[in-house]
Amino acid sequence: MKDVYIYCNWKIYLDDEQSESLFRSILADLQSVNHYEKGPNINLTIFPATSSLRSLSEINSNSNFANKKLKISIGCQNIHYEKHGAFTGETSIMSIQPYCTSVLVGHSERRNVFGEKNADLNKKTSLIINNDLEPIICIGEPENVSKNDAEAYLREQILSSIANIDISNQVIFAYEPIGSIGTGFATETLDVNSKAEFIKDTLIQNFPDIDLRLIKILYGGSVNSENITDYLSLSNIDGVLIGSSSVVLEKFQMIIDKIISKSHI
Ligand code: PGA
Repeated sequence: MKDVYIYCNWKIYLDDEQSESLFRSILADLQSVNHYEKGPNINLTIFPATSSLRSLSEINSNSNFANKKLKISIGCQNIHYEKHGAFTGETSIMSIQPYCTSVLVGHSERRNVFGEKNADLNKKTSLIINNDLEPIICIGEPENVSKNDAEAYLREQILSSIANIDISNQVIFAYEPIGSIGTGFATETLDVNSKAEFIKDTLIQNFPDIDLRLIKILYGGSVNSENITDYLSLSNIDGVLIGSSSVVLEKFQMIIDKIISKSHI
């Protein structure tokens, strides 16, 4: 049975009070499934809006939550690629580092709405790794492209994100085809598994020294309680990045129930 990574991107769906309340409910709910036997080990990371990072981190550390099979961490949705300086409105890695373990890099909304470029994302990845945090590099092709074009697009995103970076800690790639994010149209499992294999092959071919055990691959895009175990069962997938289904307590509970009742993931 593999360890699974359940990463929840809360975007700016909730205000601070709602985030704290949902997080407390999630912790209480997970306490009650404290002794599940069958399912896989779960690494759960919540990525709240940046303004809630500190309070969620404090709630987490004060919760005395202890479970050998379930680890709960807090992550950050975005940082600036410079450590400090004159960058009005940005968030520095120094200000979030005490409160989180992971940082998303290049989510498609960052790339498409805010125009982030591969070169900037390489700088962010480097900064995150140099500060001992875990980067989750989000990649994914646009809608309606051919298989060849999709692969070329992904190759460019993969190679540019980690070019000239020494990877000796864990790095996560989140494969999120743009047409599946927030649309309700999750990508077919066969396609997800073959794209995840393509990501691994691209890494091996271009970074011969890379230790694939340090690379984890998540799928993201309209994951919910109905389809989650299909993705977690795929041979090349280690976890999922969940958006809207992770900000509603009942939906989140159904997701966790599905995972812990599955003995063969
Ligand atoms: P979704 O979002 O689960 O709402 O499709 C996924 C994401 O944006 O990472």
